[in-house]
Amino acid sequence: MKRVLAIAAIALLAACNQQEAAPPPQAKGAPPPPPPYQMRPEAASGNRLTASDGQRAYEVHCGYCHLTGGMGTNLLTKQRMMAGEPPENGLLTNRSDLTADYVRQVVRMGKNAMPQQTKVDITDAELDAVARYLGKGK
Ligand code: HEC
Repeated sequence: MKRVLAIAAIALLAACNQQEAAPPPQAKGAPPPPPPYQMRPEAASGNRLTASDGQRAYEVHCGYCHLTGGMGTNLLTKQRMMAGEPPENGLLTNRSDLTADYVRQVVRMGKNAMPQQTKVDITDAELDAVARYLGKGK
């Protein structure tokens, strides 16, 4: 009985091996072409920001702290309220006292709890666009 089992096991192993050694099914014709890459429009145009992209650059580079609920917004809301201003002024976009130069300076130098943003974080061109967006008219 043991011998029969052993032979059966060997036969089974051999069968498995044979299956593994079988050549893969032949591919018919050329492989299908890859799907077209979905490029963002700005990537297609070299990913350069223009002056009109200030809002987008602000949302991308500053938004995680300065949009609603961000830690920058929360801190500035408290500061503005203590200065007797409405809480909405915690959002930089609601401020009317920011100049473009001030925005550039705070971003490159940092201010209190805000860490300085390097040219790796935001390029000069992007910062110019953001400064014009926040400090518009000044
Ligand atoms: C990591 C979070 C963070 C990021 C990113 C960030 N900020 Fe700030 N920002 C703060 C905080 C916090 C303050 C409040 C600093 C304080 O006075 O304690 C602040 C303050 C400022 C102020 C000063 C406001 C005032 O009343 O004097 C300006 C202007 C400003 N940020 C602009 C920006 C811009 C523009 C960007 C994007 C390029 C940016 N920040 C990115 C956290 C951030």
